[in-house]
Parts: sequence; C-alpha cells; structure tokens
Amino acid sequence: EQRLAVELPGLTLKNPVMPASGSFGFGDGRIALENDLNQLGAVVLKTTTKNARTGNPQPQIAQFPEGVLNSVGLTNPGVKAVVQQKLPALRTKYPDLPLIGSVAGESVEDYMIVAQQLAESGLLQALELNVSCPNVAEGGMQFGVDPRTITKLTSLVKQQVDLPVYVKLSPNVTDIVECAQAAALGGADGLTMINTVYGMRIDPVTRRPAVGNVMGGWSGPSLKPLAIRMIYQVAQQVALPIIGVGGISSAADVIEMYLAGASAVQVGTAQFSDPLACWHIIADLEEELDKLQLTSLTELRNEVKEGF
Ligand code: DOR
Repeated sequence: EQRLAVELPGLTLKNPVMPASGSFGFGDGRIALENDLNQLGAVVLKTTTKNARTGNPQPQIAQFPEGVLNSVGLTNPGVKAVVQQKLPALRTKYPDLPLIGSVAGESVEDYMIVAQQLAESGLLQALELNVSCPNVAEGGMQFGVDPRTITKLTSLVKQQVDLPVYVKLSPNVTDIVECAQAAALGGADGLTMINTVYGMRIDPVTRRPAVGNVMGGWSGPSLKPLAIRMIYQVAQQVALPIIGVGGISSAADVIEMYLAGASAVQVGTAQFSDPLACWHIIADLEEELDKLQLTSLTELRNEVKEGF
C-alpha cells in the first residue's frame, strides 16, 4: 500500500518500520526467518566488526517489566563470515528486501575496513555507522561522544564506500545537536537515533549487577521521551533524514516519532515481548492514519505545533 511508502537516501521502503540493529542478528536473532520479511520496510543487521567477537561475560541481557539492560558487547562472527556466509544466505532467501549493514570498530581503520568489505559484497542498500555502542571500551561509544571523531569517521567511511551512510548517535551526550552536526559535516546521508542509554540494574536478592559487564545499555518504552526530545532538537537544526529509534512499540509511537521529525523508525526492545511487533505495528499504521484523517505519514513529519 502506497500510503506507507518512504523514500530515504539510497532506500526505497514499502513502509517505515524496520527491526533495529541487534534484534534481527543476521537472521538468527529474535525474528524467525520463516516470517515474511518482505513485509518489513527494511532490516538492519547486527553490528559487524573486523574480527569475530564473543562479547562480554554472561549474562549479556537482563529483561525487566519496564525495559531491557544489555551488555552484549558487539557479538558477531566478523566481517569475513558476514560477507561470505550470512549476507548471501539472507539475500538468496530475500532478493528484494532492503538490507542495512551496521559497522563498528576499535579504531578508525577498523571502521573503514568493515565498511568497505560490507559495501563490496554488493548485497547491501545502506550502512549504519554504529558510533554509539555503550558496551565496548575501545571504539564504540567513545567515538560517538566526541563530535570531531564522528566527523572524521563519517567522512573517511563516505570516501571509502558508494552506499548511503546513516550515523547512529548515542544518547549518552550532553549536546545531541552537536553530534548530529558533526555527522552532517562528515557527509552523513542520514541519522539513526538513538542507541541505548548507559545504565545499570542490581538484583536485590543476589546483590549482583543484572548483567555480566556490570553496566550496559538500557532500552524500552522508558527511552521514548528521550528519543523524542533528541529527534525533535536535531530535526530543528540539522537537514538530514532521521530514522527514529527508542521505545517504539505501537503505531501511535511511530506517529509521535514522525511528529518529532523522524522519516522512518526502528523497533528493538518491543520484540522481546512480541517477536512480531514490527508486523503488528505495520498492520496498525493505516488504521492510525485513518483515525487522524491523514492520507500519509509523510505529512506528519516535523509537524509538531509550538505553544498551547
Ligand atoms: O545497546 C547496545 N548493545 N548498543 C549497541 O550499539 C550494541 C549492542 C551490543 O552489542 O552491546
């Protein structure tokens, strides 16, 4: 249905809803490959690094009624296995599905190598630069909280690849607009925002931290106000399309993200309680548009009113 279609740099999507990086893995995550992925707007793959990573000590994920804490640590089989096995397998099963690769590294050089090899596969429509993982000491969040590093990483990767590049921003900063402007300066085609908030939970019975790495990334509905605020601030100041992510679990949440300034959305934590969350949100979106007497989502973008 044309009503939900979205055009983003390098991406033609039948609807704006995609599973967020991490939740889909490489087709081995929370979404069973038996579901019809062709109904999704796109799929973002798990962040890929140069070498394979086993991630942080177990437990890597702790679920709570009000959200999820993860200290995964970029577990992935490394770019070679992704390019030679994971990507071709997915592409064979889904020839037309927009696929977005996610890139991270321990150094600027790492980012470039991973980006180049993912791009050279010829199997991806876009790259997401993950400069905001809270669970790795080297690279990851460290890069994403320093505007000058964001600019440098983005411009080097852009010189290296022909694919559109979306920079995934960290909420663990005091000035999100500065980070977004840094990505724009580096030549980013778009922004994905936001990654998880750096948090911690403690079990009162065992008195142990909830995750093996002690602290981790917090996600779920409680993140939505922060995401909405940051997307709104950035949309006012930076002329780049924004893929909104943070606490989305319903079609109404998608509408709210659009009003703040998003042009598409990603769903992560909602899939813990409902692996078909993306499908349900897509199915509800049309009804939600009817309720608001709208013909398309696009006309809502950035349409938040000022004052009361
Ligand atoms: O919360 C997160 N966890 N954000 C990321 O960017 C990566 C992931 C992980 O692997 O730790």
